This record gives sequence, C-alpha cells and structure tokens, in this order.
Amino acid sequence: MIKIPGMTDPHVHLRSMDWSHKGTFASETAAALAGGYTLVLDMPNTPPSTTSRPALDRKLAEIGAQAVCDWGVYFGASQSDNTGQFAGVSREICGLKIYCNATTGDLLVEDQALRRRIYQSWPLDRMIAVHAEGATVPQILGLVRQTRKRTHFCHISTADEIASLTRAKNDGLPVSVGVTPHHLYLTQDDLPTLGPLGLMKPELKTPADQKALWEALESGIVDVVESDHAPHTLAEKRSEKPPFGVPGLEATLSLLLLAVQEGRLTLERAVDLVASAPRRVFGIANPPETYTLVDLDQSWLVEDASLRTAARWSPFAGMRLPGRVVEVRLRGTKVFDGQDVLVADGFGTNRFGRS
Ligand code: NCD
Ligand code: ZN
Repeated sequence: MIKIPGMTDPHVHLRSMDWSHKGTFASETAAALAGGYTLVLDMPNTPPSTTSRPALDRKLAEIGAQAVCDWGVYFGASQSDNTGQFAGVSREICGLKIYCNATTGDLLVEDQALRRRIYQSWPLDRMIAVHAEGATVPQILGLVRQTRKRTHFCHISTADEIASLTRAKNDGLPVSVGVTPHHLYLTQDDLPTLGPLGLMKPELKTPADQKALWEALESGIVDVVESDHAPHTLAEKRSEKPPFGVPGLEATLSLLLLAVQEGRLTLERAVDLVASAPRRVFGIANPPETYTLVDLDQSWLVEDASLRTAARWSPFAGMRLPGRVVEVRLRGTKVFDGQDVLVADGFGTNRFGRS
C-alpha cells in the first residue's frame, strides 16, 4: 500500500454546462476521485467558453455546486481579444489557456500579434498554459523569451517539440512540459484498432516520437503527466464526424504504475509526475490530510462498465493495470472508499482565490 499526497491533474475537460450530455462536474470529478486525484484544473473550451466574466461566473457557480474533489479553472484567451478582462479574473482562476492550434471547441488564437498582446497583458504570477503543436512551439517560445512569463506546454507529443523545449530549458526559460498517457502508450499504429477512439488533439504520433517522450520523461525534460481527460459520448465518437478527445482520469495513475512494473520509471518518479510535480509547477500547496491510498498488489481490468466517467469508454479498454485506489481523503474527510463517493456534490473547493 502506498500513500500519495495531493494527486493533481492540471489538464482536464470536465464538460457540464452546454455539454452536460458528455459529462458533468459531478460525474467527472467522481471519475477524478476514482483515479486517485484530489485536485483537477478544468480547461475553458466547453461551451460557453470561459472567455468572459459572465461565462466564468457561470462555471464557478456550477462547478462549485457539483465538484466532489478540489478544483481550479482556466480562463481562455479569445480570438476576439479579451485581454481587457484579464486583470479582473486572474485571482479566481488557476491560469490562462491559449489554444494556438485547432481542437474541440471554438477557441483558437492563430494571430501571433494577438498572442503577443495576450502575453504582455497577462499578470505575471499565474500560469499560461498553451496548446502549441509543431512549428507553433518555437513561436510561443519567442514570446516566453521576450516576456519571461511562466508557460506550461500542454500534451507535448513529438521528438521535435521535445528538442525545442530542451533547448528552451537549457536557456533558462520559465517553461514546463506535460505529456499525456495516451501519447506515452499509444501511437498511430494503434489507429486501425482504435478507430475514432484513437482520435484526439494532438494526434497519435510515430513510435519514434513515443520513444522521445519516454526518454524525456526519464531525463526530466517532461515535468508532469496530465490526462487531458476529454469525454465525448460513444455515439459522437462513432458518428460521421467524430470529435477529438479521450477520457483519461481513471487510468493515468495505473498506466504510470505499469511503467514502474516494467522497469521504465521508479515508483518515486511515477508518483511525482501526478502529484508533487504538478503542484510544484503550478505553485499549489497541498492541504493537510489530503492523500490517496493505492494498493499496489491489486490490479484491475479497464472495461467500459467499470468506469465512472459519463463517457463510459476508454482507449485503454482491455488492459489489465496495476494499482487500485482504495481510499481518497480530502482535508481530513474520506471522500472515496474505492467503490463509492462518500460526500455530497459541492464538497470540493476552488484552490485559487475566492470560491
Ligand atoms: C479536447 C476536448 O475534447 O475538449 N480534445 C482533445 O482532443 N484533446 C480539447 C483539447 O485539449 O485539445
Ligand atoms: Zn485538453
């Protein structure tokens, strides 16, 4: 049995609001607890996008009433220039998200001049998280070099991106790097089997890219593992135009424990990647008595029926994974016993500013 203090996922899409058919703050934070997490940071692309004060107020009210684990929410940069709102919201949110490449939702900032204005307007002390792929990575690094604003590069997936970020880190830029369990465990070679269940942004890459991610994980270039939990219904995924994104909250810890079992990571490093590292990178203190107990001797089969996410499917279905979450405590209260959520909706709190 191991005890992990403050498991934190800095990249989830909990849905709710206009996309409650894909999942709700209640269902997806229950999935977070089942996956061992006590804190999740929610992305701004679920409609209505979190790009204005009213949209943020709606999200804060709904997540506050429903979440069963602690949470933070990102504000979203908008293509229609919402930099004027930054100062008024930066105390209640965990950071700013800039979508620099296209994905699910309607947030996309492609104009480098607007990106520069966003960087210059952002108050220094909260994270900027970027969705930047390929050639966009060096463009954003240019802005970090000019403004020195702390930047987290989400879901990095290629050897080239790792090379750019390695140079940036060697130059002392304030950057951090996240990778997802799906880019660590799956490649484009899995697409024939997975079909639409293997579609996400960034897309699955080559085995050579996958190898570079594992090496960067071992060398410390990668700072955190983030699930990029992005539930869509099976019907949507099997439709003519399947949306991008896969659920991940419930399998991420066990996939890292599998890497420990296979001798690819130490137990200490695996746990660091989903607990102390994300808290360190995002500057989050862990409340007392907030931890997860995991039985390393038990394993579980990933199958749709065993999942709590409203999506009820996983790209990892069929895998037997080590490590069972048997208890989660949040600020002294047992919130999950390995089977059931033991607290009412709304028990979770905003860890950032007033809630
Ligand atoms: C995410 C979603 O569905 O909200 N999809 C995805 O493929 N990862 C959006 C995102 O993070 O890009
Ligand atoms: Zn995402």
